[in-house]
Amino acid sequence: MRRVAIEALLRIERDDAYANLALDAHLSRSGLDRRDRALVTELVYGTIRRRRSCDFLVDRFLRTSPPAEARAALRLGAYQLAFTDVPPHAAVSATVEAVAARYRGLLNAVLRKVAASDVEWPDDATRLSYPEWLVDLLRRDLGADAHDALEAMNHAPEPRRRDDGYVQDLGSQEVAAAVPIRSGDLLWDACAAPGGKATALAARGARVVAGDRRAARVGLMVSNVSRLGLDGQVTAVVADGAAPPLRPGRFDVVLVDAPCSGLGVLHRRADARWRVLPDDIDRLAALQRDVLRASIPLVRPGGLLVYSVCTMTRAETTDHDEWLAAFRPDLEPLEGPGGGWRPWGRGSLLLPQTLPSDGMALFRWRIPSAA
Ligand SMILES: C[S@@+](CC[C@H](N)C(=O)[O-])C[C@H]1O[C@@H](n2cnc3c(N)ncnc32)[C@H](O)[C@@H]1O
Repeated sequence: MRRVAIEALLRIERDDAYANLALDAHLSRSGLDRRDRALVTELVYGTIRRRRSCDFLVDRFLRTSPPAEARAALRLGAYQLAFTDVPPHAAVSATVEAVAARYRGLLNAVLRKVAASDVEWPDDATRLSYPEWLVDLLRRDLGADAHDALEAMNHAPEPRRRDDGYVQDLGSQEVAAAVPIRSGDLLWDACAAPGGKATALAARGARVVAGDRRAARVGLMVSNVSRLGLDGQVTAVVADGAAPPLRPGRFDVVLVDAPCSGLGVLHRRADARWRVLPDDIDRLAALQRDVLRASIPLVRPGGLLVYSVCTMTRAETTDHDEWLAAFRPDLEPLEGPGGGWRPWGRGSLLLPQTLPSDGMALFRWRIPSAA
């Protein structure tokens, strides 16, 4: 079982493979039963999240950097020792047995030392296992809440199902619930795939036109819509939200659930913290602004514009609202929905540690009625 975990870790690290895809491929070839698959999944995702912490734990006892297989196994061993309930002797022996014979001496010696030693972490980024820049950014943008947010995103989220069976995190459910619609309202969902929020809103009686730029994801959305029996309520289209092929002024509500840096879902995407780069935030913020700018004219007078993202950076949230306040001072922000949401500029923030859930930001503005 640990052999499968080591091979998956090696593939993710060496070939820069996406964690979920690489792990699925290894699990389906493994012949392991359900329980063991769940354990391998926990070990692989946990080791990836805690990579920086694990490297610190083992590097104290290494003189040179070990070959990739030994490095992967050392991380896996250190993860079990420091962050799971696996008894130390079992963690060491099972991990040692899972590597090639030539690495067993090294693994055994280093992991025993890790098991026997106390830890003094050099800094929070190493202890919490995030890149330095990300810790600095969230500290700057979230202040005192950053620490608990980072801590919360080191733990695997509970899978959540809606009453209709659709798997959707509580944070996204909260966003959908905060979209004010009445039965029969016409809604444009500008970044809709795979259809989580579109189907939740259709189930509440909205007539949804659901667009996404990626055709393959629109295909996935169409099958989700059909499976939930909502074909009559949702029309799916491949469209660029920054240049929507729609007549202006027709929609009661426009939802922009924009592509974002995903810093609120780092627990869900185990390798994302090592992939996302500061430049991505600027690029995505520009795209978000383009989609927002193109969305405003689609709303009918008196209708609503709703913006949400699964991230917590100011560049992707309050900065847009400040830009809108200057560019369209006639848009009137709605009060926050309350509950777990805390005020965030003129919008609201759901921190990942609150429910707990994905971290989400939400802004809702009313377009003025025609004079
Ligand atoms: C956060 S996801 C949307 C999740 C979806 N609303 C839900 O609840 O299931 C963002 C989506 O934006 C899409 N996207 C990226 N760029 C876009 C663009 N220029 N126009 C429209 N959609 C875009 C991505 O393909 C992705 O599916």
